[in-house]
Amino acid sequence: MAPKNASKMVVVESLADLRAALSAQVGDWGFVPTMGALHAGHASLVERACSENPNVLASVFVNPTQFNDPRDLEKYPRTREADIALLRNHGVTVAWFPRHEELYADTFRYQVSENLLSHELCGKFRPGHFTGMLTVVLKLIQAARPTRVYFGEKDYQQLELVRGMLKAFFVPTELCACPIFRDEAGLALSSRNARLSQTGISTARAFARELAHPEHTLQSLRTSLETLDLSIDYLEDHDKRRYGAVNIEGIRLIDNRPLSTHHESQKESKL
Ligand code: PAF
Repeated sequence: MAPKNASKMVVVESLADLRAALSAQVGDWGFVPTMGALHAGHASLVERACSENPNVLASVFVNPTQFNDPRDLEKYPRTREADIALLRNHGVTVAWFPRHEELYADTFRYQVSENLLSHELCGKFRPGHFTGMLTVVLKLIQAARPTRVYFGEKDYQQLELVRGMLKAFFVPTELCACPIFRDEAGLALSSRNARLSQTGISTARAFARELAHPEHTLQSLRTSLETLDLSIDYLEDHDKRRYGAVNIEGIRLIDNRPLSTHHESQKESKL
């Protein structure tokens, strides 16, 4: 059955058209910001937003300021027509493709930076990434003023940084965290997976499996990953969660899992 808004979805680009489309509806707005190349993981965020709000806005914007590697930006998949079809089929009210010149009318003179968590984990390997991400998220939220915004737990560090930013700047939008969407073999869905060969996908699945292994210490996890054809950026435990970032066939993948009770009791026994 087609979702309630399927035939009515409006596609906008300019801020003026966005404002007109938002004010044409009454009631709460859920917002799903994305960089496109949409997959079932994004669809699950949209579905959750649709179940909790009468109106849902989704944005598709490949944000250049969060790419520290220009080759990564260039290779990032752009699939506008397929993205529109997915958003329409999942009941989005307004699909917004922001214009670069409007979002960055200030030419990135004004930036949101965070001075603690953004330097950990991915921050050590992607200088400037979180400043670009936080800046664009604040711009998107301020432009749309949604009631709720939806972020996936795959980018857990991003989620926590956005949570902190909304609190720090008294932004009234409610942050809704959504569980990681995994394939049948446990691999977290990511737009980057599409750039892997079949062998690369098998390696990525092995990475996801080892990261989830309840008995691995960080050292035994590292040892088992070193037998695979990948390079490790980091494997770290933070706040009851295990985080990993690896490169497979030149593609950077991240994942995280809550630490198991086994890990927690191991830690306690060492105290
Ligand atoms: O997670 C993403 O896709 C991006 O970091 C976001 C939140 C859309 C900002 O560009």
